Amino acid sequence: MKFYIKTFGCQMNERDSEKVQGILSNSGWSEALSPEEADLIVVNSCAVREKAEQKIYSEIGRIKNKNRKATVVAMGCVAQINPSKLKQVADVVVGTNTIDTFFNIAKNGARGVFIKENMDNPDYIFPHVENITAFVDIMYGCDNFCTYCIVPFTRGREISRKKESIIEEIKKLVDMGTKEVMLLGQNVNSYGKNFDYNFVELLYEVNKIEGLERIRFTTSHPKDFSKELIIAMRDLEKVCEHIHLPLQSGSNKILKLMRRRYTKEEYLEKVYLFKDIVKEGSITTDIIVGFPQETVEDFEETLRVVEEVKYDTSFSFKYSKRPYTKAKDMDGQVDEKEKLRRLNILQALQAEITQRRLNEYVGRVQEVLVEGVSKRGNQLFGRNRQNIVVNFDFMDNIKKGDIVRVEITKALKHSLLGKLSG
Ligand code: SAH
Ligand code: SF4
Ligand code: F3S
Repeated sequence: MKFYIKTFGCQMNERDSEKVQGILSNSGWSEALSPEEADLIVVNSCAVREKAEQKIYSEIGRIKNKNRKATVVAMGCVAQINPSKLKQVADVVVGTNTIDTFFNIAKNGARGVFIKENMDNPDYIFPHVENITAFVDIMYGCDNFCTYCIVPFTRGREISRKKESIIEEIKKLVDMGTKEVMLLGQNVNSYGKNFDYNFVELLYEVNKIEGLERIRFTTSHPKDFSKELIIAMRDLEKVCEHIHLPLQSGSNKILKLMRRRYTKEEYLEKVYLFKDIVKEGSITTDIIVGFPQETVEDFEETLRVVEEVKYDTSFSFKYSKRPYTKAKDMDGQVDEKEKLRRLNILQALQAEITQRRLNEYVGRVQEVLVEGVSKRGNQLFGRNRQNIVVNFDFMDNIKKGDIVRVEITKALKHSLLGKLSG
């Protein structure tokens, strides 16, 4: 029996798809190269913006045109909130808290709708697929209820996994050859609310794992991003010098309407503390333009913060009305065309800053973890500690998982080129 998985959405969905891949492979299934040759087709969905939500419906339609015989499973964030609508087009609907359903799908062809508000056992260790880098969930759900965001409704209440379970999972990964882990949570800085240890203590423990080379984490909510964490990033040699710190807006009026619970000033203070303490630190962010009541002046404040922080990269989006959220009913919704105009201005500014930041690396030697052969097949690629992709020429003695020193010779649009340095 063969399966095919198509994944939309964030790293949490990528990890969930990997769990499914692991469960099915361990049950004797093999992966199909295309949906046409699959017996089971899984579509893992994202609901964060309206456009993302539409994709699961168009994808299922497309798949059915190619392969009418396969069983279709709709899973992920859209499945969690719209199970009855999806049941009309899919044979099985699996929510975000019921991934264990796949054990039954593999074993006895379970069919139906499987949704739970929260996870039964967050400490259960799902299988991984062998890789140099790996995603590890450290917490599930979100309790922040930012007024634009659907995630608290698609992922349920925030719950942290016990550190023993996380450490055991990472040790297993290291035994499989993993060198780098990305610790995942919607707000990793609030990890451990239900325990007597916090995220920083978890980092100290993970840093001790022998054979593990690098530790990354995402996402850091600015309201909970602490000096203690910044110091840990300086002191723990495995923790990479990169933070993803979503700004969302540079206007205090909009931040308040978004219910982000920090001001622009507090945000910038943390950015400067990080830049001061963590040498060669890199910062990336998420920004929403055209939130209800955002004026041109509010938007320009966002542009000024972007210029000031000089993000390595930013992911920016037009505000999209989402069901269940507060912001969808707010006055002062912004016209679509105006949202697009603002998005274009912001993205042009970011492109310029990204180019400047990448150019700064030229002539410098970077530590690169080799992940494999580049897309074009003519070079090796990996990432530096700041999470920037670096391509360099093949060398016989270098293999996946090695850490090498690469002298940067050229900055491309989103990545770097280099040559091995002695
Ligand atoms: N937990 C993370 C973000 C998860 S969603 C955090 O708190 O930062 C990823 C990004 O999608 C968000 O940072 C936000 O920029 C964007 N996003 C979320 N809801 C959105 C909406 N309704 N419209 C447009 N962008 C949205
Ligand atoms: Fe959404 Fe806010 Fe939670 Fe992030 S912190 S997932 S933006 S509600
Ligand atoms: Fe991720 Fe999209 Fe769900 S961003 S948490 S897959 S709504």
